[in-house]
Amino acid sequence: MGQPMPQLSPGMHVSVTTPAGCVRQYSVVNAPQERDAIVIGVKLEPQSRGGSRSMHEQVQEGTELLITVPRNGFPLKRTGRRPVLVAGGIGITPILAMAQALHANGDDFEMHYFCRGAEHVPFGDRLRSLGEKVFIHAGLDPAETRCKLDEVIGAKAPDATDVYTCGPGPMINTVADVATQMGIPEENVRFELFKNDDVPTGGDAFEVELSVSGKTFTVPSDKSLLKACWENGVQIEASCEQGVCGTCMTGVVSGDLEHHDTYLSKQERASGKLIMPCVSRCKSGKLVLDL
Ligand code: FES
Repeated sequence: MGQPMPQLSPGMHVSVTTPAGCVRQYSVVNAPQERDAIVIGVKLEPQSRGGSRSMHEQVQEGTELLITVPRNGFPLKRTGRRPVLVAGGIGITPILAMAQALHANGDDFEMHYFCRGAEHVPFGDRLRSLGEKVFIHAGLDPAETRCKLDEVIGAKAPDATDVYTCGPGPMINTVADVATQMGIPEENVRFELFKNDDVPTGGDAFEVELSVSGKTFTVPSDKSLLKACWENGVQIEASCEQGVCGTCMTGVVSGDLEHHDTYLSKQERASGKLIMPCVSRCKSGKLVLDL
């Protein structure tokens, strides 16, 4: 309360502690000129375990919520290439923030939004304010979605295009597949997943050494690296504990990594220098962390 608004950039998210006590990540939807409040969009999930249901049923005007400072795990990069933004469902939130920033800057771009039906389009006023740069594709099945993406992405010059996408996993996979087939380099296709379906319940035990303190301990087969760190007095900040938000990212000195997060890019994974200890593990028996 009373703190100045932090600097916002498209692709940011905040971790929100819902009234039910769950921590959930929500993208920041703000346009560049909006500095009076942080805007998020929360879709009520029918299977909600206390995240979206709690936000919908227990939050009213005046409710105080604990949120983290905004972090950006999905930044919009100025590359000189033309961005094509593709969103599905509630994945509209970070993509809309990008579209508003590009629009405010007078940049050339286009945004495609895939949704179940015209009545399922959130943030209608904001989308309308972006004019002819926004295309809404309602009620397409997966095959029709793929055709539309072939048409949209196939019409672009591969070397002059960046693709940003957020939405359900299958849609993101289709976007990435189409973009790659159309010759857009993988590193120019960026995406953000809201859910991670690859959170392991365990794995082989391994040893950890902290290169700065020299401390060593074992991560047992039934425990995450993050929890083992905490139990050994190593303070690592965490939020989602699902490998999605990037909060727990930790530097690696050596070790053969087994990544299970959705946060790191292919290049970051290939570097072997970063790990998300909330979900990822080590395959080589010994992991040396830069801590
Ligand atoms: Fe979110 Fe690990 S706590 S990625």
